[in-house]
Amino acid sequence: MKAPRIRFGADYNPEQWDRTVWAQDFALMNEAGVNLVSVGIFSWAELEPCTGEYRFDWLDEVMDGLAAAGVMANLANATANPPPWFSACYPDALPMLSDGSRLWPGARQAFCPSSPVYRKHALRITRKIAERYSGHPALEMWHVSNEIGNHNALCYCDASAAAFRTWLEDRYGSLEELNRAWGTTFWGQRYSEWEQILPPRQTTSFGNPTQDLDFRRFSSEACLEIYRAERDLLREITPEIPITTNLTPNHLELDYWSWAPELDTIAVDHYLKANDPDGHIELSFVADLSRGLAGGAPWMLMEHSTSAVNWQPRNIAKRPGEMVRNSLQHVARGADAIMFFQWRASRFGAEKYHSAMVPHAGTDSKIWREVVELGEVLDRMGEVANTTLDADVALVFDWESWWALEARSHPSADVRYLDRVHALYRALWETGITVEVVSQNVDPSGYRLIVIPSLYIADAEIADRVNQFVSAGGCAVVTYLSGTVDENLHIGAPGLSGAFHDSLGVRVEEYFPLREGEEVALDDDSLAAVWTEMVHLEGADALVTYKDGPLPGVPAVTRYRYGEGTVWYMATRLDRETVGRVLKEAVKTAGIKPPIPMVTAPSGLEVTRRSGESGSYLFLINHGTDTAHVRAEGRDLVADRDVGGTLSLLPGRAAVVREESG
Ligand code: GLA
Repeated sequence: MKAPRIRFGADYNPEQWDRTVWAQDFALMNEAGVNLVSVGIFSWAELEPCTGEYRFDWLDEVMDGLAAAGVMANLANATANPPPWFSACYPDALPMLSDGSRLWPGARQAFCPSSPVYRKHALRITRKIAERYSGHPALEMWHVSNEIGNHNALCYCDASAAAFRTWLEDRYGSLEELNRAWGTTFWGQRYSEWEQILPPRQTTSFGNPTQDLDFRRFSSEACLEIYRAERDLLREITPEIPITTNLTPNHLELDYWSWAPELDTIAVDHYLKANDPDGHIELSFVADLSRGLAGGAPWMLMEHSTSAVNWQPRNIAKRPGEMVRNSLQHVARGADAIMFFQWRASRFGAEKYHSAMVPHAGTDSKIWREVVELGEVLDRMGEVANTTLDADVALVFDWESWWALEARSHPSADVRYLDRVHALYRALWETGITVEVVSQNVDPSGYRLIVIPSLYIADAEIADRVNQFVSAGGCAVVTYLSGTVDENLHIGAPGLSGAFHDSLGVRVEEYFPLREGEEVALDDDSLAAVWTEMVHLEGADALVTYKDGPLPGVPAVTRYRYGEGTVWYMATRLDRETVGRVLKEAVKTAGIKPPIPMVTAPSGLEVTRRSGESGSYLFLINHGTDTAHVRAEGRDLVADRDVGGTLSLLPGRAAVVREESG
């Protein structure tokens, strides 16, 4: 049995380099403590330069070199981009936009997810690779494709249309049922033959919203089908090797709740948005979502950056210490692997200005010194692997609601799904408690508080579970436009009050969205924006009301004692302080405590605890501007020294304390 360890490494693209560089790579990987690299992700054209003509010598050499260096491979099946010969032979396999125009090859993911010919060729190269490297000593896991659907999830071509129809037949069973679900009596859209149904291509005016939603559901599933087909083949050839693919949970396109059970281990990519001054909070959100996808189990950070990326308008370099801090934040929230894009900075191509573990400046650089430092820290933290976190609060995140809430022909274009998700998450982050991000299939009874930001599509089942949870003593926070429609986007019997109507103790009569930039004053002296609605109290108390705007005197925030529990409803887009105040009250009412008392800790201190058979580990990360002083006993695995009593953590620094028991 191998000792537990945190995996550490990067995407490795040796095909971009001369063989002489490879030996240096292996030596440097050893120097940095790299133990896993993702190889061959974009190498299909190198491995099969012409149809059926294979060239594996270079990859053999790389795999052997890795094995000799003791570095394991997360070997790709190379299907992320088909070679130019493929697109030349099969131009119909290129993705099509909703206006009917085709995209051209020349970047990556130049294929339609539903293309049968792409699948045939992808499985062919997958089989070749799997058979060749099955049993290779460097092979640790399989990396299927790359960020599947990132650029090509929505394809509107005829192959997609045919696959969409098959998917619809499966979902609805009959045209009658589809016509009902899509509400085709509206604007005379009734279908009389399956062949009449198309993807939601560009139309004269607003298309059918349920058709749009179903097309998104189908597209997520079509991308998942690619993963399943390639995974099944790999599994058949190497049943003992774990298989994964890298997810991008902060992207809109795919519903990862349905993907998660199909991966042997959850692997995600995360890149900081450089223009977000509080990017570390968004990082935490994605990490908590990744843990949610993993069902609480450890997960892999498959890619992040050592410093700047190349694809944002202004690519901001990481400040000294930031990369180590980002990495430890992911570990603090359950990651057992810290990997980067990429090992060595490319000299050419679209990503030549993207940072890497070995930067253009070489090893006499801030980046390399920090890479080596991180390798040492992660090596000392091996014992943390396989430990888990406990969370008393669940925040519901739902890709379908994200897709549907931002549809055209809605009351306000300013209502954005992530806006409320991030606002509520942030308020929880600032209380210092640990949050798990969950799907709407969650059983709330394992938590004390459930937070439901704009869960636009909710069925009666989640509403029942929330009602029961609250009446039995749980707490819930719900924001506007939650449970407004069912899975077909139909407004239900409670009208605009939505599926959570019973436990909210309010009735929503009419929406009063605000003009662009308009603000309304509330009687607690805060300001709200974007959204207001005519709310009537039906048992709930008004905590805050509007002073002006379209609804003076109407409740903006309510609280309802429902059975043994309490529900807060936010009927408007509250400002940061007011969201914070409401969430603090909910956390307090639910009796949830942070891992250590936060009263004495300065703002910006992030604290989590991972525990398991190997022990209990307190993670402390200081994002603030003041030194934090916290009580801790044990050994700090970052600084590699004992801590007795008080630990003083400078701004920007992190500590991971193996806590002494008893
Ligand atoms: C994604 C991809 C990588 C690379 C990075 C750049 O995560 O998977 O191939 O393009 O972005 O940030």
